[in-house]
Amino acid sequence: MNNPSNVKEVSQASALIDFARNFPPPCPTVRNAIQETFTHLAKANVAEAIRFPRFTGTEKDREAGASWLAQRFEATLDPDRIALANGTQSILSMLIAYYIKPGGVLLTEALTYPAIKPLSQLFGVRLLPVSIDAEGIEPASLDQACDTVNGSARALYCMPTLHNPTSAIMTDARRREVAKIARKHDLCIFEDDVYGILSPNAPRPLASYAPERSWYILGLNKSLACQLRIAYVAGPSSSVTQDVFWPGVRTTNWMVAPLIAEIATHWLTTGLAHGILSSVRIETEIRRSIAQDALGLSFDIDPASYHLWVRLPGGFNLTDFVKAAKQRGVAIGAGDSFAVDSSLGDTRFRLGLGVPPDHGQLRSGLSIISELTKA
Ligand SMILES: Cc1ncc(COP(=O)(O)O)c(C=O)c1O
Repeated sequence: MNNPSNVKEVSQASALIDFARNFPPPCPTVRNAIQETFTHLAKANVAEAIRFPRFTGTEKDREAGASWLAQRFEATLDPDRIALANGTQSILSMLIAYYIKPGGVLLTEALTYPAIKPLSQLFGVRLLPVSIDAEGIEPASLDQACDTVNGSARALYCMPTLHNPTSAIMTDARRREVAKIARKHDLCIFEDDVYGILSPNAPRPLASYAPERSWYILGLNKSLACQLRIAYVAGPSSSVTQDVFWPGVRTTNWMVAPLIAEIATHWLTTGLAHGILSSVRIETEIRRSIAQDALGLSFDIDPASYHLWVRLPGGFNLTDFVKAAKQRGVAIGAGDSFAVDSSLGDTRFRLGLGVPPDHGQLRSGLSIISELTKA
């Protein structure tokens, strides 16, 4: 049931200029793709497609996924290693439930995707943070964390490419070291590459450095359309993928919705997806340059990232700054929500440049933030 006070909060939040959430910027290509897709669906036999469960996706869905993932791997993976699901969170639920017993340990970057915290709680799993620097995970800290729990950590959840919230990208050397330590401690790697696909120059996924133990997850929500709610997962082998994403497991809502899969496969196989991704990249560049001018800052991060991790101005604490921004009509991402140990995240905030609906609102919101940071 809806909690009336939550409903009120959400409707108040929608009146704010929103930098707190993090979506791709709006692009007309998505509207055009939807129109084209409905014409296609009207001709396709959708009634038949929605009669049956789609399990891990049809062969065509998985082949389309393999060719989309090939942009990151520079090679086409065996489609039988791939499963489609209802988004990254659904995939992570399946992986955590399969690999980590209640009371077990999941390693993660010290700053991480906020949803991992409630998700691990749901499964009674303890999150153990690993230190990060400008290149992401620090190998010595990963090694030490595994030793601390005497080998009981089974898996590492991480974002090696365009990390959320820092936008850090692990170098090739760092990927090799992290893979080596994962091997030493027999860890599975759950690699979330939801932002990685945004950068045409990103290094190959961590999964290609440790393919025997990696689960590579690529959702479409941060690159093509935020609420399409579909993601692809590539397991270490087709048989392991089949075991973990066994169609008989119906206890979580992981299985892909057939109509959504139909749309995604159409986008991936017709070039519509490439068109959307290019326009997201172009609009990101425009928004980044607006932000650079408005905030008077230069950002030392990959040009494809549309989220900024900004240092709090001196004299402010995080709670007061978030509150002051809200009073002026702007929502920003509180840094401590990303921190496994929340005291680590209290010196920065995140700005998602993609959510404001147009450049006018983007400029107004940024000028309020700029005034606040200079106050
Ligand atoms: C790092 C990261 N992974 C995954 C997601 C969400 O993925 P999905 O909507 O596919 O469950 C988000 C959304 O905020 C995210 O920031």
